[in-house]
Amino acid sequence: MPKILVTGGNGYIGSHTVVELLNNGYEVVVVDNLCNSKPYVKDRIADLADRPFGFYQIDICNLNDLKDVFHKESDISGIIHFAAHLFVEESVENPIKYYQNNIVGLLNLIEATKLLPKVDVVFSSSCTVYGNPDEVPISESESIKPAMSPYGNTKKMAEEILRDHSMANANFRTTALRYFNPIGAHHSGKLGEDPLGHHTHLVPIIAEVASGKREKLMVFGNDYPTRDGTCVRDYIHVCDLANAHVKALEYMLGNDQISGFDAINIGSGNGQTVLEVVQAFERATGQRINYELAPRRPGDVDRIYANITKATRLLGWKPELDIDDMMVSTYNWEKNK
Ligand code: UFG
Repeated sequence: MPKILVTGGNGYIGSHTVVELLNNGYEVVVVDNLCNSKPYVKDRIADLADRPFGFYQIDICNLNDLKDVFHKESDISGIIHFAAHLFVEESVENPIKYYQNNIVGLLNLIEATKLLPKVDVVFSSSCTVYGNPDEVPISESESIKPAMSPYGNTKKMAEEILRDHSMANANFRTTALRYFNPIGAHHSGKLGEDPLGHHTHLVPIIAEVASGKREKLMVFGNDYPTRDGTCVRDYIHVCDLANAHVKALEYMLGNDQISGFDAINIGSGNGQTVLEVVQAFERATGQRINYELAPRRPGDVDRIYANITKATRLLGWKPELDIDDMMVSTYNWEKNK
């Protein structure tokens, strides 16, 4: 089976994807500097997949270290590139940290691939590249808007760099997966979102309230032009998202006809308001959530959800897990981690 290099494979989406790759028979090599994940994760991955994989604790911003990995693992056929800083607010306060890590890391990765005869890359992109969309559901052909944060800008710039490099080099092909809002945890209860700092995303915060670790949820804004005044997002289970990466690799590795760069939305295709998510959590878990209405959070778009027909058409992918699975698995993870 092909050998796949996963950068950031110890992180939230990365770890679920490595399990999915191993379960599908791929050889896997992870590089991760553990800047936002904990050492136990790699052992849980190996337990869950019941198969070993390669692990290098290096920073991809160090080109020599990265090239050493490519020299040792010279038979890499595919790369899934997750490694990046991801906090919107931090990126506004410290933009250079984000450009330095996310852009230099990507440029180093591209440089290191020159040691390979040929490679297919799946890039971890985001719906953030659409900015505040005019129309929803949004499809990939819609225009890319100016980014709303330096973090968002690194995703937009990374897509442009990968597009240009893929167009200029027939032996380097890229599929960018534009994720909507990944949530949920592995059904085993052994993997889930576990950042080094505090949670900033909605659903883990709701789960912290339910498990008594936080007093209440602050709902940021109830005067948006939506059904109930709160923001609409498209929530996708992390295991469905992990599966989309494997499908994207299969699509590229098994197809000589495709070339260059393509971008594909990965979401559920449905939009839910913040209050609807609270209700879904309460229904699925039986826990009441204490919340308070609060001012808008700067940088939030009113509403965004995905048109996912391209993912289904090209990758044969569609989401299998519903909102109840997302809520229950997040809650179980939060209680037991
Ligand atoms: N929200 C609250 N209270 C909270 C946390 C979030 O009301 O305590 C609301 C937000 O205002 C937003 C919704 O819940 O309306 C979802 O917020 P998240 O922080 O969970 O997710 P975002 O939609 O902000 O984040 C997504 C991706 C990011 C990406 C960002 C910017 O997860 O990777 O969009 O487009 F950067």
